[in-house]
Amino acid sequence: MADRKPIISGNWKMHLNHFEALKLVQELSYLVTEDDIDAVDVSLHPPFTDIRTVQTVLEADRLPFHLGAQHCHFEANGAFTGEIAPSMLAKLNVSYVIVGHSERREVFGEADDMVNKKVLAILGSNMVPILCCGETLAERDANQAVSKIDGQVRAGLTGVTAEQAADMVIAYEPIWAIGTGRTASADDAQNMCASVRATVADVFGAEVADSVRIQYGGSVKPVNAKELMIQPDIDGALVGGASLDADSFARIVQYRLAD
Ligand code: 13P
Repeated sequence: MADRKPIISGNWKMHLNHFEALKLVQELSYLVTEDDIDAVDVSLHPPFTDIRTVQTVLEADRLPFHLGAQHCHFEANGAFTGEIAPSMLAKLNVSYVIVGHSERREVFGEADDMVNKKVLAILGSNMVPILCCGETLAERDANQAVSKIDGQVRAGLTGVTAEQAADMVIAYEPIWAIGTGRTASADDAQNMCASVRATVADVFGAEVADSVRIQYGGSVKPVNAKELMIQPDIDGALVGGASLDADSFARIVQYRLAD
């Protein structure tokens, strides 16, 4: 099995202005140790208006967190009022961009073909997409969870090379577990992440599937992080609410020290 370094990502969603962002990053820098960073990659995904501030503090203080974004457009530039181009994020040393989050799909109508264009554009700007997939409760109850995820992952990866796919992150986030306090059981999350890996294996082969990192997301907290993270096909966590508090996010990053 490939030696996949876990990645824990804080998706701040539409929370924290740039002053609050600065405070959170500074608090995290006191809590997260070099040993943590040797064991786990950490990425922070602030709102667009905070990114320059977070970049500045990360670089000035040499903090070992990767800078991330939550969203971008797929075109390089043009008349797209309100949108941000991948190259603009790359210029701020953003390394990871979340794409296809269920909130973008459900609230803003992003369909698989648009998600795929974004994946390709993010890769084209030499950043790593965190491609999200996940089923609704109705789909889960109708036994359609695996086929939904399979379709989203295949569509999202269309036109991606094997080499690019090997370095990507895919986040499995069951929609019914996001912000609800309801987490998938560790077994369920493991089975779904294994099925994401099986789809990647089917498209790109076993070597790529062995190298791609798969996160679980949906009500990850300090109390459940370890049982999720020790699953063989779960290589990280995409954390919403609990990433807004330095202490709880640091404890998730330090899951390996939990009882
Ligand atoms: P919560 O951790 O708040 O459930 O959010 C999960 C999520 O959507 C991360 O992208």
